[in-house]
Amino acid sequence: MELFYDVKKIRNQFPALERKVHGNTAIYLDGPGGTQVPKRVADKMTDYLFHHNANAHGHFATSRECDALHEAARETMACFLNCMPEEIVFGDSSSTNNLKLAFALARGMKAGDEVIITDLDHESNRSPWLHLAERGLVVKSVKVNPETCQLDLDDYKSKLTDKTKVVALNWASNGVGTITDIKPLIDQAHDKGALTIIDAVHYAPHRPIDVNALDIDFLVCSPYKFFGPHMGVLFGKAEEMKKLETYRVLVEGNTQPPEKLETGTPQFEAICGSAEAVEFIADIGYDCEVWAEKQHPEDLKELKGRRWYIVAGMLAIEEYEDPMARKLRSALVQMDKVKIFGPPEGAPRTSTVSFLIEGMRAGEVAKAMGDEGIFVWAGHYYAKELINEVLNLKSVGGLVRIGLAPYNTEEEIDRTIEVIENIASKA
Ligand SMILES: Cc1ncc(COP(=O)(O)O)c(C=O)c1O
Repeated sequence: MELFYDVKKIRNQFPALERKVHGNTAIYLDGPGGTQVPKRVADKMTDYLFHHNANAHGHFATSRECDALHEAARETMACFLNCMPEEIVFGDSSSTNNLKLAFALARGMKAGDEVIITDLDHESNRSPWLHLAERGLVVKSVKVNPETCQLDLDDYKSKLTDKTKVVALNWASNGVGTITDIKPLIDQAHDKGALTIIDAVHYAPHRPIDVNALDIDFLVCSPYKFFGPHMGVLFGKAEEMKKLETYRVLVEGNTQPPEKLETGTPQFEAICGSAEAVEFIADIGYDCEVWAEKQHPEDLKELKGRRWYIVAGMLAIEEYEDPMARKLRSALVQMDKVKIFGPPEGAPRTSTVSFLIEGMRAGEVAKAMGDEGIFVWAGHYYAKELINEVLNLKSVGGLVRIGLAPYNTEEEIDRTIEVIENIASKA
């Protein structure tokens, strides 16, 4: 593992990792709630604020620089998702982007039109449509198999009809890590003439994304989940973005994509920081070049320049994180009072591991781990339908979630296993 991937070099870039809790070096396993930020991302944001800070489209130096940085960031983010810069929208968060998108799409829909959401999704990709049901849209939610935490594909097929206008799908579950093979589902939606909205918020930190290859219409992701600042990014296919009737401030100059979805003055400093987070990933690819060329010739053969390095970086992150997650799962599975929730071993999943200890509430476990300096999340993390209803875990306060990031180490996983074992032995 260490041969191709220099985790020390990665860790040295994250000042947060020096933190101590009760004498122990903190172990950050809360990546799915938001990763830590490398210094270069904060430096980029500071540089914007100190040296290029202005509103857009003015006739003076800093305003022109602000415009140039905004456009450069769009290009970088387009390279991350493999689309055109004008297909990239920056916004407050994925939840805000989802709401704006759904309300704009609904303007072209009528009562009786159907929308498909899923029980696997974060509320961010469900709630906009549940609100819009008030206007007569028929919203159907695809079931999840509680044993495998995977979508029921037959249920999906049976819910798709000629009236389906939008399908809002989850690519990777922030609740339990399930990765859904979305391509066939997108194709089936398109066969019915429906648009697809893909929530890639939990997928983006763990796997490379190519919106073109999958023929995705809209996709959301959040840079704060992949080493950037708190904000959201929306991809919209150019032809669909043109048709969108967005709600916006009515002035000339913002009627075209992507500006028609960027309401108000954008968070320029966060936009700069988000682009720098992508450069950080590309630099992981640069450092892993020899390994990537050897191990992933097929994945990389059509790619060039920065896109090559971004994809190589994401493949290296996957290759680095997944064995640690497997080690963690195989240790947890052997502990008497511990139960893991998620897809069966061998099925596609991210490096996120959710579990419970018999006799303890999720929050109690997270607190006991937090006291040891191990930062994990507990609850439903807004994957409310899955955790409270499908898995029926409301009474125990949801699940405990361990999420790996590229700065975690095998030693941290060993200590985490030891601490969980100790907590479970006293439960
Ligand atoms: C899968 C998933 N979708 C959507 C969101 C919402 O993202 P944001 O916080 O940018 O609104 C999250 C946040 O945790 C998430 O994990």
